[in-house]
Amino acid sequence: MSENSYFEQDLTARINKRKEAGLLRSLMVNNHLVDFCSNDYIGFSQHPDLYIPSEKPMASGATGSRLISGNSIIAEETEDLIAKYHDTPAALIFNTGYMANVGLLACLPEKDDTYIYDELVHASIIDGMRLSLAKRYKFKHNSLLDLEQKLRAASGSIYVVVESIYSMDGDAAPLLNIAKLCKQYKAALIVDEAHAIGIFGKDGKGLVNELGMEKVVFARIVTFGKALGLHGAAVLGSANLREYMINFARSFIYTTALPPHYYIQIQEAYKLLPQANRKKLFSLIAVFKDAIKNIQQASFIDSPSPIQGIVLGDNNKAVKLAKHLKQEGFFTKAILSPTVAKGTERLRICLHSFNTEKEIYKLVDEIQVFLK
Ligand SMILES: Cc1ncc(COP(=O)(O)O)c(C=O)c1O
Repeated sequence: MSENSYFEQDLTARINKRKEAGLLRSLMVNNHLVDFCSNDYIGFSQHPDLYIPSEKPMASGATGSRLISGNSIIAEETEDLIAKYHDTPAALIFNTGYMANVGLLACLPEKDDTYIYDELVHASIIDGMRLSLAKRYKFKHNSLLDLEQKLRAASGSIYVVVESIYSMDGDAAPLLNIAKLCKQYKAALIVDEAHAIGIFGKDGKGLVNELGMEKVVFARIVTFGKALGLHGAAVLGSANLREYMINFARSFIYTTALPPHYYIQIQEAYKLLPQANRKKLFSLIAVFKDAIKNIQQASFIDSPSPIQGIVLGDNNKAVKLAKHLKQEGFFTKAILSPTVAKGTERLRICLHSFNTEKEIYKLVDEIQVFLK
């Protein structure tokens, strides 16, 4: 027996448990399929102007964390550009959206403070809050009533955390009403805009921009790995918040900074954002929503965004439908419980400005064929 066999067996047992439950995750390569799955909503990951746009040679690595040797003029210039674009005093770049949420939420509150969060927020928000010392209470998805109940009972400094567009359901938070409650109960509002950037608001500035709430929201999280087609994220807020995170956000402090050329790509993506074909994206969303009206055998999550959910209410059915679509050349994703609540297992379809009406009609036809 090898030295580590006990540990290997232990892992195998846990993996097998998942397998038996039909929940094993595995990596796939889906290059040749029609993309109805990725977060590349406006096709920027393939944009020719975003391929290594640097004219002069640059270091390939940052050589250290931002606080040691990894800071650069270009990093700070990029943060200024992002802050200006989003009409906020300051921005701080993190290596990923996951790290931005974990860094911000872990360091923000103190022991007697309270987080109140929508039950559907992303895992990175949950993990960040878990690392903090604050109490945590979730409210029912998009329920102002439940949010108010939780606000009434909260103590210390209160932070309310929501997404503007929810990553699994694609629906929007009632941000204006949430902000009203936050004002009434003196709570700070934090909005993750990962799936709204590039799509909603003027020039893709996000839903907070669309609703004119820049001055109301305490902090926003924008990510570059989705509509911007790149990698990384930023927390938007006051100069004070930026300085606080530089001092206390551990996922910012204790990690090697992004390579310098990333900042050029981020700047280029921001320059291109106003030209993205949002009109076509929204017209395809309308085409899709119209086409699925004919499907009787499943329910649909009402979503204004490129993220559309076909609820099948069963892990097995969702997996089988995704498999069927794959055979027909479509890349979609089955989202299973416990990632989503039991009974809401679904097929998640992401629409993109580069999809075609023909592809959408064929996709919907195939879904219908399978469900019949
Ligand atoms: C709402 C939300 N926030 C944050 C993240 C994490 O972003 P990143 O992929 O840049 O780590 C995701 C990614 O799926 C997300 O959906």
